[in-house]
Amino acid sequence: MGRLDGKVAIITGSTSGMGRDTAYLFAKEGAKVVVTGRNEARAKAVVDKIKEEGGEAIYVLADTADRSAAKVIYDETMKAYGTVDILINNAGVLSLTPVQQITLEEWDKVFNVNLTSALLLTQYCEPELKKNKGHIVNISSVAGTAAKWGPIAYCTSKFAMVGMTRAMAREMGPDIHVNGIEPGAIMTAMLENCGADATIEFMKTTAPLQRVGKGSEIATACLFFCTEDSSFITGQLLRVDGGVDA
Ligand SMILES: NC(=O)c1ccc[n+]([C@@H]2O[C@H](COP(=O)([O-])OP(=O)(O)OC[C@H]3O[C@@H](n4cnc5c(N)ncnc54)[C@H](OP(=O)(O)O)[C@@H]3O)[C@@H](O)[C@H]2O)c1
Repeated sequence: MGRLDGKVAIITGSTSGMGRDTAYLFAKEGAKVVVTGRNEARAKAVVDKIKEEGGEAIYVLADTADRSAAKVIYDETMKAYGTVDILINNAGVLSLTPVQQITLEEWDKVFNVNLTSALLLTQYCEPELKKNKGHIVNISSVAGTAAKWGPIAYCTSKFAMVGMTRAMAREMGPDIHVNGIEPGAIMTAMLENCGADATIEFMKTTAPLQRVGKGSEIATACLFFCTEDSSFITGQLLRVDGGVDA
């Protein structure tokens, strides 16, 4: 028996990285998983693997930089499974552009993907989540508490994700639990594309656990927040970062 048997879980940004690992874990635990992202080949591969292993999943292609994406994800979920129990707001994009160079176009894209899409999807899902006493997990970052981890747009969007998690928890209790995770350096495509070698070295020499993290280590934290194990926890942000700021 799985810990999420019969639950329907939307996991945004689950074609890759920690979202994909969360999709695999949740499917193994019995959830019907809605995989989302823009890349069809990767989305299909995730769903195929889940099904090969006896799980249940669909994929919905949607670019969350576009504000209409949330409705598409919600509508397709309802069409396939008729309800939503869990929403993992994980899709994210990195921006390394400094203050003087960032354009409003890039700023808006980062905010739409990292933050606004999470708000919109939450708005659509709230009635079902409320009915089901469901769970939301928002993926922020260590860049959501300290500017040393990311330049202006990324850092600001991740700080905002912390505030949004707390505000949602306050407004949406008692029926919906809302928590967040602040990952440190996790070995995914995002990290590989922005200088993984330097980060690996940095973590080895400065973090108590002396390594970068794995996507599966974020997946288990998401699972904790979506089960009875966290029944008296809401509005919290859990750092999963190898202790780098300890
Ligand atoms: N890796 C780290 O060290 C780290 C640290 C702290 C926080 N985080 C956060 O963790 C989350 C997951 O990142 P990751 O490291 O797993 O990165 P990743 O492997 O690059 O995965 C990012 C996911 O987001 C999706 N995505 C990106 N832009 C999108 C868009 N415009 N529309 C729809 N989906 C989009 C991607 O799907 P498609 O490519 O298919 O569109 C992909 O599934 C992000 O919110 C990130 O900010 C990561």
